Amino acid sequence: MLRVLFVSSEGVPFVKTGGLADVVGSLSKALFDKGIDIRVIMPLYGTISLELKSKMIYKRNIYVRLGWRNQYCGIFECKLDGVIFYFIDNEYYFKREKIYGFFDEAERYAFFCKAVLESLPYTGFEPDVIHCHDWQTGLIPVFLEAYCRCREYYKNVRTLFTIHNLKYQGIFPKTILNELLNLSDDYFTPDKLEFNGCVNFMKGGIIYSNLLTTVSPTYSKEIQTEYYGEKLDGVLKARSSDLFGILNGIDYDEYDPETDKLIFQNYSIGHIEKKTENKIKLQNELGLDVSPNIPIIAMISRLTPQKGIDIIISMLDEIVSCGLELVILGTGEREYEESFTSAKDKYPSRVSSNIKFDETLAHNIYAGADLFLMPSCFEPCGLGQMIALRYGTLPIVRETGGLKDTVISYNEFTMQGNGFSFTNYNGHDMVYTIKRALNFYNDKKVWNSIIANAMLCNFSWNASADKYIKLYEKLIGF
Ligand code: GLC
Repeated sequence: MLRVLFVSSEGVPFVKTGGLADVVGSLSKALFDKGIDIRVIMPLYGTISLELKSKMIYKRNIYVRLGWRNQYCGIFECKLDGVIFYFIDNEYYFKREKIYGFFDEAERYAFFCKAVLESLPYTGFEPDVIHCHDWQTGLIPVFLEAYCRCREYYKNVRTLFTIHNLKYQGIFPKTILNELLNLSDDYFTPDKLEFNGCVNFMKGGIIYSNLLTTVSPTYSKEIQTEYYGEKLDGVLKARSSDLFGILNGIDYDEYDPETDKLIFQNYSIGHIEKKTENKIKLQNELGLDVSPNIPIIAMISRLTPQKGIDIIISMLDEIVSCGLELVILGTGEREYEESFTSAKDKYPSRVSSNIKFDETLAHNIYAGADLFLMPSCFEPCGLGQMIALRYGTLPIVRETGGLKDTVISYNEFTMQGNGFSFTNYNGHDMVYTIKRALNFYNDKKVWNSIIANAMLCNFSWNASADKYIKLYEKLIGF
């Protein structure tokens, strides 16, 4: 049986700030269902609910060397849906009011990486593959080569590094090299950890892992270009033959309009008319004008520049003047939150800004909206558009990354397509595409046929989990 360890800084249901957590939670489950001995390790954050904490069992503690420090590291364990989760406990690093955004991120995640490797032999689990996710885990392959290879336990361990978002790399001053990582200046060269005079965690992961993946085929190509490469395109190009784009999936049990317990009215492709009941309920709940004939365009997203919020805000009046209702759900940069809040004040019956994190409302929006907007300037994969497709809520996306791989713009001549898309990062192109979608909205026969195309797509984990298994097998053959 293949033994795989996921290392991640977040994972559903314990902690989530973005799609990474969803992927770690749902992919581990999918791999377990396919017979992989999959385990997950993450920090024991103070924000994890007491209910989940009460399910954890304390295993033991060890001490971890970090520069001149010798830090406590507790090891906890918990089993959920068959998958075993391990937790690294250190209250100084992880018992804080949020999970990211502190002055000592380098120290916190260097500790985490070191602690994972040092804890592993005490868990009784011997992974064939350590699968690292994003920059917070980038030092694991580095430490493995630097300190662990000579020990029997680690001799045959292979590493896979998945890039969920190349924008966030973990870049820190050179001083951390000796001060925190106990690495000599030999590691401070452009073909190792050096990056513009700093130390780059993600670069370490890219260089020292046996194989690399990212979360969609298009993004795997894009990041090898200067425009999307975030100054790591050269390094990625050099590892091109080891880099694979595997599309994320979504949890098909959690997101199923036929059985979803969080939505008002369940529906299926055969009874798409029932979707309207969800729409009426949503309009009521959000204080919008109530009518089945007013199209709702929704966005559920972290409010960051990546997601194309700038072009939405700059085009807000034009969007509203299309005669639709705009529903926003998410949190993020203050400036964006404020812009959406004032849009709601300006158009109280047409704009609903919900600056929060609310799982139930999210499901009700997926079920009740007609269109789902994702005009991202880049998008490694994107999960929202896949959930929207499953709920027959047609995505309007910019053609980039995973959005390009999942949304096919409707073609009125062939009648193919499951949504609408535009090429350039430009507010006018976006508004044009919204107007184009609304033209079809008024022709119910055509509209329902596009909804059917959307709901017939399959973005469950089934196919993608098999692709990961193939890569794990390839790694073992190394
Ligand atoms: C990041 C990316 C997003 C991707 C997610 C999961 O949040 O921005 O596109 O879907 O990771 O891989």
